[in-house]
Amino acid sequence: MNTVDTTLEKATKASFEGAARAIKLVNDSNTVTVCWYRQVIGTMTATENGLVWNGYDTPEMEKFFGEFLPTRESDGMPQFLVNIMPENTVFEKLGIESQVDYLSSGLRFPSNTLVSGNSPFDLPFSNDYLTANLADHTDEQGVFTGSYQGKPPKSLEEDALAEELSTIWKNRYVPRYSGAEMKIPVTLQEQGELQKAISTPFTHFLKLPNEGLKEGWGVNEWMCMQLCEATGLPTAKHALIEIDDRLPPAYITERFDINDESKRGVTRRMMQDFCTLAGMRPLNDMHADSHKEGKSAGSLESCAKTLRKFSSDPQGDVESLFKRALVSFTVGDEDMHRKNISMIFRYDVQTGQMIDGKMSPAYDITAEIHKRNENIAMTLPMGNKKNNIKLKTLMSCAKSMGIPEDRASEIIEDTMTKIAARAVEIANNPPELAVKTDMCKFTVHRIASIAVARTKAMGFETPEWENVDPVKMPATRSGQEAAPINMAAFKLG
Ligand SMILES: Nc1ncnc2c1ncn2[C@@H]1O[C@H](COP(=O)(O)OP(=O)(O)O)[C@@H](O)[C@H]1O
Ligand SMILES: [Mg+2]
Repeated sequence: MNTVDTTLEKATKASFEGAARAIKLVNDSNTVTVCWYRQVIGTMTATENGLVWNGYDTPEMEKFFGEFLPTRESDGMPQFLVNIMPENTVFEKLGIESQVDYLSSGLRFPSNTLVSGNSPFDLPFSNDYLTANLADHTDEQGVFTGSYQGKPPKSLEEDALAEELSTIWKNRYVPRYSGAEMKIPVTLQEQGELQKAISTPFTHFLKLPNEGLKEGWGVNEWMCMQLCEATGLPTAKHALIEIDDRLPPAYITERFDINDESKRGVTRRMMQDFCTLAGMRPLNDMHADSHKEGKSAGSLESCAKTLRKFSSDPQGDVESLFKRALVSFTVGDEDMHRKNISMIFRYDVQTGQMIDGKMSPAYDITAEIHKRNENIAMTLPMGNKKNNIKLKTLMSCAKSMGIPEDRASEIIEDTMTKIAARAVEIANNPPELAVKTDMCKFTVHRIASIAVARTKAMGFETPEWENVDPVKMPATRSGQEAAPINMAAFKLG
């Protein structure tokens, strides 16, 4: 048994006792304490109508969370707490469906938030901070050069993988976060070793590919992030990673909602997505009105309005948001919803004041490689359109966002041409790992094809590139024909 497994075993034993204690506390008083970097923000009580906020613990916390950041009207609860909910099939597998179950099953939530009956005294190890830089362990082609110490998953088949990962999440010390894809919270050590983050700081997300259509998903996200970075937009640090030589590559990204060691005790970070910032619930549940609530509600322009309200650099940030949407549009990403765009707020521990609030680096961008270009739509409409977006649509969107016309033209051309150029560069000279299987290679070629086609359609210069259609999709590793759902549509053209 290696050291990681031993740590896991010890932490798991401790965690059952801890969980029993915490849940008992919740049951006795029905109240949990919420801490941020171990400082109490306030408490909340479970009632028949869900969780109710009991107020802030100190004037500093009330000012930061209660005045600067969005809260729920009825009781002043920070909106990010209102919105913390299980989203992953892993949590369904654990039988966790309600918010109270979710909060009491775990302890560590994003941006160093702790929730438990007896926090801040519950966590026997430090807050999350960066223990090493991913850039120091990434080669010039964007491939991770360190070593993954965990066991590779037994299967990448979606259900089997969820089943396997669900055992990790039984441990209440394992950090919780949102999202639908299978991810493992990991710690990158100084020498480049990567291990599961259980009793160590959670510094990076490891996102695993699945079987079949999603075999190239690690490569997909990696390439889209490379293209995003090429536009000059602040982008989450990332790399392509081989966790086992028999598996297609995975994707790793560095957390931007935590500090490096030098800022420990000096500044804090708090991440808020655009559901939270707009005071919307994230779920399209039965009772939600999906026009007014939910991660896909509204438009890019309405997000820009929200952004102006909270940003310390409104004009610069609105341009960043517009660019972020252009990246999604150019690579054919259908997943730019309100939880995939966020702001980061920084807090000065000495003065107890907010330092600033800015758009976070870009994250979670993937291309819809299996769809025909004309069928790939934006999630949040731009200029009232999700589909069939033309240059004039983009210009009208920029205008509504408050970006001057000449500036908008410049941003659109610059962003799109840089993406197309970098896409072809990667496709012509990919890292070996990025084209490890036929599906991975197809993924790289499809992304280049979408980016070139969309850039060309705007009338901009693109490098030479031979288009690859979704029709040419290869069989997957396991040998089955890929994409039973979409094949008929591909054949039409
Ligand atoms: N690099 C990062 N730093 C900090 N938080 C991140 C980072 N990447 C993702 N997240 C957070 O984790 C959530 C899930 O990650 P995401 O990449 O969106 O996964 P999914 O593909 O499952 O939606 C995001 O909505 C965001 O809140
Ligand atoms: Mg996401």
